[in-house]
Amino acid sequence: MATVLSIWIFIGLLFSSAVAAQRSFFPAAIPLAVRSPHFSVWYQNTAGGQPLPNSWPFFWNGPIIGWAGRIRVDEVTYSWMGDDGIWNSTAIVVDIQITPTRSIFVMQAGPMNVTVTYLSPIEPSDWVNQSIPFSYVSVEAQSLDGATHNVQMYSDISSELVTGIRPSGTQGGAAVRWQNNRTAQTLYHETEPETLQQYTEISEQAQDGRGYYAMALSPGLTWEIDTDVVCRHQFANTGNLTNTQQATFGPMGQPWYVFAIAMDLGTIQSTSSPVTWAIGYVRDPIAPYTTPSGVTEVRRPYWTTRYSDVSALIDAFVADYPAAHDRALALDERILADAAKISPQYGDLVSLVARQVMSALDITVLGGSGNDGDVTDVKAFMKDIGSTLRVNPVESMFAAFPTYLYLNASLGGALLAPLLQSQDNLVGQAYAAQDIGANYPNATGTRGAHQQGIEQSGNMLIMMYAHARVSGDGSLLSRHYDTAKRWADYLVNNTLTPLNQDSADGLTNPNMTNLAIKGIIGVKAMAEISRATQHDSDAQQYDSRATALAGSWLSLAESSDQQHLLGQYGDQSSSAMLYNIYADLLLNTSLISQDVLAKQTQYYNTLLQSAGPLGLYFDNALSDLKLASSAWSLFTAATVMDDGVRNQLVQYAWDRASFNKTGGQFPDVYDYTTGAISDNRGGRAGPALGAMFAPLALTVPNTTIVVSGSSPLGDNPGSPGSGNNPGSAESNDKPNIGAIVGGAVGGVVFLAIALGAGFFFWRRRRQQRARAAYHHKEDILEHPQPYEYGLASQREYSPNRYVDADTRRVEAGTTDHPTHPSLSDAQYASPYPIVGSSKARERAREMEQRYPMSPSGSAEPGPTTPRTPSSEVMSSGTESSSATGGSGVNTVSTTDLLGLRAEVENLRRVMQGIREERLDPPPQYGN
Ligand SMILES: *[C@@H]1O[C@H](CO)[C@@H](O)[C@H](O)[C@H]1NC(C)=O
Ligand SMILES: *[C@@H]1O[C@H](CO)[C@@H](O)[C@H](O)[C@H]1NC(C)=O
Ligand SMILES: *[C@@H]1O[C@H](CO)[C@@H](O)[C@H](O)[C@H]1NC(C)=O
Ligand SMILES: *[C@@H]1O[C@H](CO)[C@@H](O)[C@H](O)[C@H]1NC(C)=O
Ligand SMILES: *[C@@H]1O[C@H](CO)[C@@H](O)[C@H](O)[C@H]1NC(C)=O
Ligand SMILES: *[C@@H]1O[C@H](CO)[C@@H](O)[C@H](O)[C@H]1NC(C)=O
Repeated sequence: MATVLSIWIFIGLLFSSAVAAQRSFFPAAIPLAVRSPHFSVWYQNTAGGQPLPNSWPFFWNGPIIGWAGRIRVDEVTYSWMGDDGIWNSTAIVVDIQITPTRSIFVMQAGPMNVTVTYLSPIEPSDWVNQSIPFSYVSVEAQSLDGATHNVQMYSDISSELVTGIRPSGTQGGAAVRWQNNRTAQTLYHETEPETLQQYTEISEQAQDGRGYYAMALSPGLTWEIDTDVVCRHQFANTGNLTNTQQATFGPMGQPWYVFAIAMDLGTIQSTSSPVTWAIGYVRDPIAPYTTPSGVTEVRRPYWTTRYSDVSALIDAFVADYPAAHDRALALDERILADAAKISPQYGDLVSLVARQVMSALDITVLGGSGNDGDVTDVKAFMKDIGSTLRVNPVESMFAAFPTYLYLNASLGGALLAPLLQSQDNLVGQAYAAQDIGANYPNATGTRGAHQQGIEQSGNMLIMMYAHARVSGDGSLLSRHYDTAKRWADYLVNNTLTPLNQDSADGLTNPNMTNLAIKGIIGVKAMAEISRATQHDSDAQQYDSRATALAGSWLSLAESSDQQHLLGQYGDQSSSAMLYNIYADLLLNTSLISQDVLAKQTQYYNTLLQSAGPLGLYFDNALSDLKLASSAWSLFTAATVMDDGVRNQLVQYAWDRASFNKTGGQFPDVYDYTTGAISDNRGGRAGPALGAMFAPLALTVPNTTIVVSGSSPLGDNPGSPGSGNNPGSAESNDKPNIGAIVGGAVGGVVFLAIALGAGFFFWRRRRQQRARAAYHHKEDILEHPQPYEYGLASQREYSPNRYVDADTRRVEAGTTDHPTHPSLSDAQYASPYPIVGSSKARERAREMEQRYPMSPSGSAEPGPTTPRTPSSEVMSSGTESSSATGGSGVNTVSTTDLLGLRAEVENLRRVMQGIREERLDPPPQYGN
């Protein structure tokens, strides 16, 4: 048996080596179940880290989510998710594909090819479906050797979904309750904190929600609620669960109770349909929203308009899997086909961010009737995840807006609605508010004076008009006309020479070129808003104002040689990405001439020659911080007139997206020399990355604005999504095959070819980089980093690379910048395996807490005494847990496995040597 297992592992390693060489996109975090601001579960994919089969998923900002998956093949249990050591072996990941709606892990578990698909639906045209805070994980398996095999599947989730582990690894969590329940078609587990604390967060996990794990009832299904050790051993030993639950509740953790569902498939050659679990995190109500008259509305999730309770919701969601999967495929295909028209790598960017941008929203209604009727007064709330955590943060909405415009512009209207309502008749403040609350989900209303008047007024007017011209819904324009006019008048008076104005990027210097043009485009947007609402004399007035302002702006903004635009009027050394010009193209307002754009494009081209390894600053006024912004790089990319320059900007964002030497999700703001995430947050997992859709939003057609039509954004009944619905549009285009990284590797026979081709492409990429004058220090950056999993020796990286955002804000004089009650560095850093060795330490500490070692330090094997896996994990150190020799649970010794690895490494080196000698000249690097 041991020998058979070793052989399978060996073949698996060969597969993984081959595919690792072929893959090219290596984001440090991959979305698993990402549906709402409080339901955001990821896989940490850092170089030197562990593959999914021996890694715990984590909540976006760090805490582990105890979510485990197993497949038992001919009585041998393989892990496909979770790091507890209760398995005979781990499945071997051979490929990962990321599409806008799915993360797909192709693995090998002994004689079976196992495909694990994490699907977080994006349903832009059906707001009931979009608002359902559930995701699917489904597993398919096919025999690799043609024979039939006896197969069972298992997965469980712990209460970490509803409370989260306490910061700094303190013991246990809140007391939790649970129950198992079923409907006619579905079995589900429910867990919740014993004390629900409404609208409260701890480490950004909500404390007022319920967690669910569900599966369609069918023969072969068994379930259990007990400790992790009991449930997982029960499955490993028997392939079935006991259909029983622990009657006594406990704390979340110590011991770790889990909610398990297993499926016995019997003897099969392949699964006839995927085995699918539904995982959900439900909050109801969503948010308290204080209206301008001081009434606090209790906002409920949009799905409550169709489903009267959670069991009906779960039933529908579980039964909908095949159709939801089809819709997801169609949407992915559509997005990737559109993305392929921009550049080859662009599809990866939109795929990585689409789920998180949609998940930043909670779509709500007042009431919720459960009868699918009168959907009125829809409001969407956005959490500024990964950044300030505010409610409907206007500058992040502005960055995210291209995604909503592209997917369904009406979403933008639902987001604008509460901001606009809050500011009608707001006395004494001529400019727009920054948000409607400092701490999600408390939408307490506007918060008084601030220094971002131009920034936020410009953002609001641009978004109002953008929403209306793409959706055709002019109801917000007419209802809030006076408010818009107040902001436009403010801009007319103030935007040309911004003084005492902050940008949302933390800049405070006077006369920012980029800020000024945003305000001017805002004035022009007001002219269009006036026109659409038949205020013709206003339209003429704002038109002429905007034109005059744009003319003055150009004379102030141009460099003395008139060859490019400055970052700050008159300062010839100033230089910035003038990303706000994007709005001029988006709205087709044509304030900036083609000639100016062409010269600016050339200028960016010149700047890019001396960009950092991971991109270009967005403003050299912040050059000491070496900050790049992926969002503003993409806005800028969408404005340039040369595809080469555009693609280079896209490439830099992609380079950072594919940079996996630091932990954490693809950030908006980062250090372009080291990749370090600004502020240790940098907008990661948050909405601002919706800017990746900037080039695509320019392709969305506009439509006639109807002012009196029905709209759900207020008092008139109607249905959202009319006029712009690419999600369900037919498309005959093929998906971007390049973006869905090809995963098929036929067999061992092709290993050599695959390795060779892999290195060829890898090397070719390096040469392309060299041609693009890509100046970088090889010792810092060798990314993208192929998966090395446990094969790589742990590397040391400097831990202290994070930019201190508070320092930046103080320096920039913006001490009133909204900040969340801050967590200590340790709280952010500790769950993150940012540094190889500290990761190992963290892991060990975590495991120690979960599975304390017995005093003797040795485990007592035997089916009657469920053994804790601590000794195996501790003894195997940082090595892959599949190599836990001599433990009695695993049958391959460490030495055996290391031998196999050495063989594979040698083979790879030999192949690399051959390629280097025969195919390619050595890469040239610019210097
Ligand atoms: C798998 O592990 C169980 C104990 O958990 C052990 O009894 C069994 O022999 C192992 N199977 C193989 C093939 O190693
Ligand atoms: C199961 O769910 C139904 C419907 O939601 C509910 O009425 C019932 O109380 C639940 N059963 C248990 C044991 O809680
Ligand atoms: C929201 O407000 C409630 C009531 O004041 C408070 O208990 C809660 O902590 C607030 N939530 C956040 C995230 O600040
Ligand atoms: C699980 O239980 C069912 C019903 O008792 C049985 O038919 C099946 O063989 C069991 N599966 C395994 C893997 O033992
Ligand atoms: C704009 O400036 C004019 C003239 O100084 C003034 O009358 C008007 O009140 C100002 N409007 C706003 C909104 O600041
Ligand atoms: C494994 O399954 C995936 C899809 O689920 C497929 O693309 C791949 O070719 C299969 N691999 C092998 C070796 O059969």
